[in-house]
Amino acid sequence: MSLATAPTFDKGLANTIAAETQMSFIDGGKGVLEYVGIDIDALARNSTFEETVYLLWNRRLPSRTELESFTADLRAEYELPGGMLDLISKLPRDATPMHALRTLVSALALHDAEADVEGAEANERKAIRLLAKTPALIANFDRFRKGKPFVASDTSLSMAANFLWMLNGAKPTDAVAKALDVCLILHADHGLNASTFAGRVTISTLSDLYSAIVTAIGTLKGPLHGGANEEVMIMLREIGAIEQVEPYIMARLKAKDRIMGFGHRVYKAYDPRATYLKTFAKQVATDTGNLSLYEMSRRIEEIMAREVAAKGIYPNVDFYSATTYHSIGIDLDLFTCMFAMSRIAGWAGHCIEQLDGNRLIRPAAAYVGPHGQPYVAMQER
Ligand code: ACO
Repeated sequence: MSLATAPTFDKGLANTIAAETQMSFIDGGKGVLEYVGIDIDALARNSTFEETVYLLWNRRLPSRTELESFTADLRAEYELPGGMLDLISKLPRDATPMHALRTLVSALALHDAEADVEGAEANERKAIRLLAKTPALIANFDRFRKGKPFVASDTSLSMAANFLWMLNGAKPTDAVAKALDVCLILHADHGLNASTFAGRVTISTLSDLYSAIVTAIGTLKGPLHGGANEEVMIMLREIGAIEQVEPYIMARLKAKDRIMGFGHRVYKAYDPRATYLKTFAKQVATDTGNLSLYEMSRRIEEIMAREVAAKGIYPNVDFYSATTYHSIGIDLDLFTCMFAMSRIAGWAGHCIEQLDGNRLIRPAAAYVGPHGQPYVAMQER
């Protein structure tokens, strides 16, 4: 194959535009995030996760009837196919929840007669199934590993409230369900982040939507991406008390360690998702008796502002979502699963976009090894 122009090396692809999208717009310099042109702050304050997903997938806000119909479609898919609960109860109880989630989403494909059916309409139905069933996978795995009986989904509840119902076997308060709903809105899509890119690469081979979402889950798991929210909570636990914040952060910065929940490839200003979450996290932490955790977070932010804000390092969405998840009683090792539960909206939307005018995503590598080497026979090595 001859190339019209020689490709340039762009480590980390930071300066490469690899796809077009109509879902989210990011201005990293100004700290702007819009879903289909609507500011994330307005959505976090006024929308619901279901409405936000409709917006992302249809590129417009729904009418009341459209939202009711979309919500009903999602609720009709809450329940897991027969066999999935058996599978959950055969997983090792000590499995990392993200490993369990990746495995279970992969297994969902085995129960979907349309798994390999192509076309936008089949993919939209699969997207609804994936989004609607993932909360039950996470909640039921958590119940299984704690030795608790499974809880059937409640189709009268929103996705956020139903997840908390299945997880805890008790109806959440409106405030707690709202807190999770806001986190789901804030994490639903974010341009061509690493997991979305990975999902688009998979679907660009004309593989199926389940495979693409499994790829994306595996990519999200890493601590430089979705795994950072767990690391934030681990750090807060290690610090333990507000007086320890300054020495802890200064020692880590001196050792050139990264402070989890800070910095972003795109944002060199305040992550707009963190702006609302910061205020919201304070309210949730106060209501649930976790204010000291929030105050430690604020102190970390002050020190980071003093020490590294000049480099464009500010809190990212993971920083305050950690406090929020903890405050609403989500176990630390489920934090990244919460991210996945929401981001399936973005992943599926991106995959469907990718297939519209698809071209295989296949960048080049710069070969930096030797040439002209002899093949040395085994006995001579
Ligand atoms: N703490 C301290 N210093 C940092 C941090 C951090 N969290 N992030 C970046 N820096 C410093 C780097 O050490 C580097 O400093 P130097 O120029 O003096 O060497 C400079 O900022 C630039 O860092 P890069 O690695 O070039 O930035 P990059 O864009 O590649 O990294 C990333 C972005 C991976 C998110 C990084 O900021 C990081 O590791 N953050 C911590 C993990 C995290 O919170 N991830 C979640 C991201 S948001 C999400 O996925 C939802």
